[in-house]
Amino acid sequence: MKTNKKRILAGITPSGNSLHIGNYFGAVKPHIELQDDQDLNTHYFLADLHALTTVHDRDKLEENIVGVVLDYLALGLDPEKSVFFRQSQVPEHSQLAVVLANYVSYGQMQRMHAFKDKLQKNTDVGSINMGLFNYPILMAADILVYKPVGVPVGEDQRQHIELTRDMAENFNRAYKKEVFPLPEPMIGKKSGKIVGTDGQRKMSKSLGNTIDIFEDEAVIRKQIMSCFTDPNRKKATDPGKVEGNPVFIYHDLLNDNKEEVEDLKERYRAGTVGDVEVKEKLFAAHQRTFAVARKRRKELEQDLNQVKEILSMGAEKAAQTARETLEEVYQVIGIKNKIN
Ligand code: ADP
Ligand code: TRP
Repeated sequence: MKTNKKRILAGITPSGNSLHIGNYFGAVKPHIELQDDQDLNTHYFLADLHALTTVHDRDKLEENIVGVVLDYLALGLDPEKSVFFRQSQVPEHSQLAVVLANYVSYGQMQRMHAFKDKLQKNTDVGSINMGLFNYPILMAADILVYKPVGVPVGEDQRQHIELTRDMAENFNRAYKKEVFPLPEPMIGKKSGKIVGTDGQRKMSKSLGNTIDIFEDEAVIRKQIMSCFTDPNRKKATDPGKVEGNPVFIYHDLLNDNKEEVEDLKERYRAGTVGDVEVKEKLFAAHQRTFAVARKRRKELEQDLNQVKEILSMGAEKAAQTARETLEEVYQVIGIKNKIN
């Protein structure tokens, strides 16, 4: 499928089995909004091979993959508007990674955050799995195989995009040919990093400070009711702080009833509303915002054949571009030559 539209590409690692509102406002929502831009050709894929850096349990991996695919489709990813597929179903990603590994140095790889973060947790460098160390190479291949102009990611991924650009430049320079255009990181400013319910660290599955989207209502209710608010406010009659207060950050993101939000903020500042009412209204807003998606997810769960078809159709479309790039690369480097 040839198109002159600008190509955008992003991957989602299924490291957990369901998304939280941090993932939604930081990644899913911006991805879904881009698919409606008529000038863009959006490609989104599930980075299932990347999940192997942390998940070594067959059933868990399957659960994560299915879970995140269903979440994305339920939240509005439209396979008619975006090419949606799994990394493992387009083998050219892995094939290009083998080639690209030769255009990046060991020193550059050692400077990557994902790897360095692991080391800070007192891991012995000799025991780091090579999948984790090589992760940025596979990620660079994921990207360059589609020659996208932009890659919408979170701030935490900026360094990986920069490395991808370096690798593309090294490659282009070696063969004196502009094979890979340099992709731009597209990093949203507003919802770059959503704070967790502990009010301190970024919302993250591994920190247990999330508000989930598709969990049972009782669980979500509990997550919201146990959320930190203004630590200096002892009673409902004390004036409270709204800025930086997680419950109001979530109200601003989730609550479509802006009048209600303004009223709650005013009363909170004046000390005339209790935390419970603020949280009850947040829970109600969560229910309104995600009612359609939750219903749609239940339906999709009952029709995995449809999901399977969506993914194989997406992989077929993606592979057309990926095959072309790999062919070109093999030609340029000399693997495709006189005798094949
Ligand atoms: P988690 O930290 O829960 O394991 P991931 O690291 O798998 O989440 O992130 C998946 C996507 O969601 C990434 O694109 C990431 O940038 C985004 N994301 C995760 N947590 C947040 C957050 N708290 N705020 C904004 N975006 C987030
Ligand atoms: N590393 C990204 C993350 O953890 C996921 C990812 C893998 C990705 N391959 C990609 C994102 C290619 C953009 C482009 O969020």
